[in-house]
Amino acid sequence: MGKFFAGMVIGVFCLLLAGFCYVRFGFVDPRADAPVEFIERAIAMPALDAAVGRRAPETKNPLQPTEANLTAGMNIYQSDCSSCHGDPVHPHAMLANALYPRPPQFVIDAPDMPSNENFYFIAHGVRWSGMPAWKQTLSSLQIWQITTFLNQMDKLPPPMEKEWRTEASGTAGDATVEPPDSAHRYAKPQLTEAGCDMRKNVQGKRILNAICRAG
Ligand code: HEC
Repeated sequence: MGKFFAGMVIGVFCLLLAGFCYVRFGFVDPRADAPVEFIERAIAMPALDAAVGRRAPETKNPLQPTEANLTAGMNIYQSDCSSCHGDPVHPHAMLANALYPRPPQFVIDAPDMPSNENFYFIAHGVRWSGMPAWKQTLSSLQIWQITTFLNQMDKLPPPMEKEWRTEASGTAGDATVEPPDSAHRYAKPQLTEAGCDMRKNVQGKRILNAICRAG
């Protein structure tokens, strides 16, 4: 019995050591454009959904899907999210295959998570992925507006649907709706003017627009 137990401990230790050596000595593929493995899709994605389901507070979306809220959400989405998550003109986004894990393409597969989980995803981002924590640059009102827009994205009222399809050139204007209570604004990020000027030259400029607007 004692020998069996000792054998188990040594076995587990050897497995852990092999795992450590595999990672430490460079056998893990570091490329963001590597194919996403089946096993990772099968384990990591449900694990992420479960983690968010467990952590996201049971808050109700305080906003109604009015045209004003949907339009504000749509504009922020166009400027800050569509380069990774797509829009009707680019259902397969510019960066769709440039990140690992891949960003879900919302025009192809509309987000169907409860609002509180979407809010949590957007506010806190996703560790070990390209998904930023947007509470660094957006107010909670703005995050609720995007959440409201995401919930309605595949069932927008007809006038908005038209706007969504025509505004989707990616030149949608800035989100101008100010949160009613400035205390709810998150801290502004520090980005120099030079950094903001640079956005004109980089491909992912829509991502930086938000940062420069807020700063
Ligand atoms: C630089 C690329 C990038 C940008 C910009 C970006 N995201 Fe993401 N997002 C990702 C990636 C990558 C994932 C997948 C993370 C994972 O599966 O681990 C993701 C996941 C999500 C999810 C979870 C979806 C699900 O079904 O699991 C939501 C919701 C989301 N993003 C919303 C947004 C919103 C809203 C914005 C804009 C405010 C935004 N994202 C901007 C890359 C991005």
